[in-house]
Amino acid sequence: MEITKGTRVFITGAGSGIGRSTAIAAADLGARLFLTDINQIGLEQTVALISDKKGEVCMARDMDISQKDKVALFAQEIQKNFGPMDVVMNIAGIALFARIEDMTHEHWKKIIDVNLWGPIHVLESFVPEMIRAKKGHIVNVSSVAGLMGAPWHAAYSASKAGLIGLSEALRFDLKLHRIGITVICPGGVDTSLKNTVEIPGIDKDSPRFQKLKKMFSRHAISPDKVAKQILKAIRKNKFMIITSADVKFIYFCKHYLPPLYRIVMFRISGIMNSMGPKKDENHGV
Ligand SMILES: NC(=O)c1ccc[n+]([C@@H]2O[C@H](COP(=O)([O-])OP(=O)(O)OC[C@H]3O[C@@H](n4cnc5c(N)ncnc54)[C@H](O)[C@@H]3O)[C@@H](O)[C@H]2O)c1
Repeated sequence: MEITKGTRVFITGAGSGIGRSTAIAAADLGARLFLTDINQIGLEQTVALISDKKGEVCMARDMDISQKDKVALFAQEIQKNFGPMDVVMNIAGIALFARIEDMTHEHWKKIIDVNLWGPIHVLESFVPEMIRAKKGHIVNVSSVAGLMGAPWHAAYSASKAGLIGLSEALRFDLKLHRIGITVICPGGVDTSLKNTVEIPGIDKDSPRFQKLKKMFSRHAISPDKVAKQILKAIRKNKFMIITSADVKFIYFCKHYLPPLYRIVMFRISGIMNSMGPKKDENHGV
């Protein structure tokens, strides 16, 4: 479907990174926006950036997507006043890099609550009205970690693979109702996620954290580039988008060159382990 003047677009995670870039790009096309983020200041900044360019934000609310009732209430208000959404984008997410022995139950729960339950709450709240309208498009931002179990990503990979699984199922279920779906699998994207990522056992001010951040940024693309890919995928009704060439290569190897895939992944695992918390630093926090 084409985002044009007046298209109603709902976006989570609009306060930063990919969500912000996508909101601005959709506003540039004339979309009427419904935005949310847990970070009120970030959300207000996005609204200001869009308003400065004469874009239209119909409603914006700071909200935690892992809280089902809050999501349902906001959706009700939006749909009562503006009708069904044309496009719903699940972009908000959090990251945690950790070995299983360094994780508590709370770590697992938080990642699944935000990255998997969050999008489910959004879909539960908006899809029934879209089905009644018999049109629309859904975007779920997963990750390369949803396509392959990257080292140190057990909880994150579980949440993002779950999002791919539900997107695959909905692709067939929602076709009947003329609703398209896109799942985005970014590799590294240069956003504030690299600052907010939790790595139990590694202090954020430590040289090791800074080194990991630098390594990450070397391979990262800009959120604006991902936003462009998202809008193109909606326009062309593409199901899956892998945003970077390096990830496409590893994904290709996983399917067609499994021995090479194993070598690459064990190499990455070795690098991660050499930079991670040493055994006696394991805090299990
Ligand atoms: N940056 C990357 O390298 C990368 C790679 C793969 C996938 N992703 C995915 O892309 C998406 C966007 O991330 P980003 O890179 O733009 O990071 P970001 O941190 O810049 O943006 C994520 C936004 O989600 C919001 N958020 C976090 N928890 C929330 C909650 N409980 N309720 C509502 N909003 C919440 C944050 O406040 C933030 O504004 C995420 O789902 C992330 O997992 C990012």
